[in-house]
Amino acid sequence: MSLSIKNGRIITADADQVADIFIEGETIRAIGKDLPMKADKEIDASGKLVFPGGIDPHVHLDMPFMGTFSSDNYETGTRAALFGGTTMVIDFILQRQGNSLHAALDEWRGRSNGNCVGDYSFHMAVTDFNEKTKAEIRDFIEKEGIVSFKTFMAYKGALMIDDRQMIGLMEEVKKHGGLINVHATNGDMIDYLVAKHRAEEKLAPLYHYLSQPEITEAEAAERFADMSFYTGCPGYIVHLTCEGALNAVRNATRRNQKVFVETCIQYLLLDASLYERDFEGAKWVMSPPLREKKDQETLWAGINQGLVEVVATDHCPFKWQQKLMGKNDFSKIPNGHPAIENRMELLFSEGVNKGRITLNKYVEVASTNAAKIFGMFPQKGTIAVGSDADIVIFDPKEKHSISAKTHHMNVDYSAYEGWELTGKVKTVVLRGQVAIENNNCLLRKGYGRFVKRSKVSQRI
Ligand code: URP
Ligand code: ZN
Ligand code: ZN
Repeated sequence: MSLSIKNGRIITADADQVADIFIEGETIRAIGKDLPMKADKEIDASGKLVFPGGIDPHVHLDMPFMGTFSSDNYETGTRAALFGGTTMVIDFILQRQGNSLHAALDEWRGRSNGNCVGDYSFHMAVTDFNEKTKAEIRDFIEKEGIVSFKTFMAYKGALMIDDRQMIGLMEEVKKHGGLINVHATNGDMIDYLVAKHRAEEKLAPLYHYLSQPEITEAEAAERFADMSFYTGCPGYIVHLTCEGALNAVRNATRRNQKVFVETCIQYLLLDASLYERDFEGAKWVMSPPLREKKDQETLWAGINQGLVEVVATDHCPFKWQQKLMGKNDFSKIPNGHPAIENRMELLFSEGVNKGRITLNKYVEVASTNAAKIFGMFPQKGTIAVGSDADIVIFDPKEKHSISAKTHHMNVDYSAYEGWELTGKVKTVVLRGQVAIENNNCLLRKGYGRFVKRSKVSQRI
């Protein structure tokens, strides 16, 4: 099976050219003007932008969390991702404290194997670092192709590790060529504030926000950067939201340190005023919470300063019925919001169209940098001869609006209901197969493949 994409404007992280792409099987075989090869199928991309498939390195599918499961499973989540131009996701395995990392891997494979429509990989969240789990790290990196280890500095009692465990884990991960991801917020400070607000009967979603002030994130980001500097282990801060935390990363550059930073689309576009809508604010209860307008400005600037490398989603959807678990107590609202389908279009419309980022930067933060940081470039994250043929054909002029009535995520509301966007995903190709065409998904569950990743490099 071969496929040609003709006359599109191909954008990569470092190039911009009108050309044809010739694909054979799963792989890009040629790129150039007026390619002579005849393909089994031809797509005319004149007037369209052609991007590498999006990579969202922060999603939670079918994940047990806060007494329930995130509502998108591997099939619905990866299919919705494809509709939005994201051809690959990285999901999180959570170790159960007291159990092994391999037991968690088996459990997550049980839910994901054979069920994905789009490609995927895992980060391994280490929630209990000890001599036994230490001995498992090498196997994950060298045999399983899972080279990134997630840590939580919050959610004490379920997921959080202390600094002693963090240092030990960093030393082991560094030794074998991996990378540490972190949810960097001060769990003890947050637990104190949650308990205080509950004792004062301040139970609305607004108090979720007020229990996680900026300082809780800035402090943890700085402490994490210090531990990463001390051990020399590469570090990546997930879902960074605010000026204080980004300044901790900026300060680390003054001693020639590199800390990778991911923000998420919601922190660029939404702000904490949404928590003033009584219980409707539960739609945006996530950790860390939405912040202020000044933080949005900092994050857009951080992208252009090269301090923020990735725009992900932290997609962790819960249906309204699940959010109601916290009707009378904000601390019981399952944390997370849906965005896997909206990320690429929102970032284009609000970022590129509004002049905040260039087209090349768009591709960098939506795809290429994640592939480089997480050890799968140039197989993923670019349009180049020899790369997987993961391609998005995008109409930069088409207007449309976001609604739960038309989205494909398994959740009964949208966090962006009614947003008017310019720029739409038209056709998506995953490893040479047309995945999305005419607003239909042509692939079935089981097509999505687990992507084994290589040891990471500090350079991107
Ligand atoms: O609110 C969030 N972020 N839910 C998912 C778990 C996490 O902390 O990433
Ligand atoms: Zn988190
Ligand atoms: Zn998350």
